[in-house]
Amino acid sequence: MVKLIGKKIIYLAIFISGNGSNLKSLIKKFKNNSKIKISLVLSNNPKAKGLFYAKKNKINYKTINYVNKKKAENIILNLLEKNKIEVVCLAGFMKILSKYFIKKFNKPILNIHPSLLPKYKGLNTHSRVIANKEKFSGCTVHLVTPVLDSGKIIAQKRIKIRKNDNVLKLSKRILKQEHIIYYKAIRKFVSIL
Ligand code: GAR
Repeated sequence: MVKLIGKKIIYLAIFISGNGSNLKSLIKKFKNNSKIKISLVLSNNPKAKGLFYAKKNKINYKTINYVNKKKAENIILNLLEKNKIEVVCLAGFMKILSKYFIKKFNKPILNIHPSLLPKYKGLNTHSRVIANKEKFSGCTVHLVTPVLDSGKIIAQKRIKIRKNDNVLKLSKRILKQEHIIYYKAIRKFVSIL
C-alpha cells in the first residue's frame, strides 16, 4: 500500500452501476471537505442514474464499456492514474474487480455491502436475510480483496428486522444507514492513511 502521509488533498473515485444514492450522499457530504475530494465517477452502465449527480455537481465522469473486462480494467487503471486517485470507493458497483486490477492499482479500494458481513456475501442479500428469518441485518464497509466481500471490515451498522419487513422496506432502511456509515468510514479511513 502507498503511504499518503503529508499529502494535502486525497482524490477519491466512486464506481457505480445504478441508482447512485450512496454517490449522491457522498457528494453532498464531501462537498465542503478541503482534504478529501471526489474527483472521478465511473460506471459500467451508461444508463446509471447516479451519473446524473456527477454531471450536476461538475465531477468528471465516464462510462466504461465492460464487454471486454481486461480492456475495461486497463482503461480504468489509466483514468485512476491520470486523475491521481488515491482511494476507490465502490458504491453499488456490480462488477467484480479482478486480482490483476487490485494488484495493479495497489491503493485502497473500499466497498459498501448491504449485509452484516461475513454473513450474506454476494447478491440478493435482503431476500435471503428475510427468508432465513434473521433477527438483524445491516450494512458493512470493507476493504476490497480478490475474494468477494471478504476484506477487512472498516465499519458496520446493525439494524433490527421488523415483523412486517419485505425486501423493499428493509433495503430502504439499510440504504439510509449506508449513507451514514460510508461517509464516516471513508473519512476515518483516509485520516489514518
Ligand atoms: C447499495 O445497497 C449497496 O450496498 C449495494 O447496492 C446498492 C446500491 O445503491 N451494493 C452491493 O450489493 C454490492 N455487492 P445505490 O446505487 O443507491 O448507492
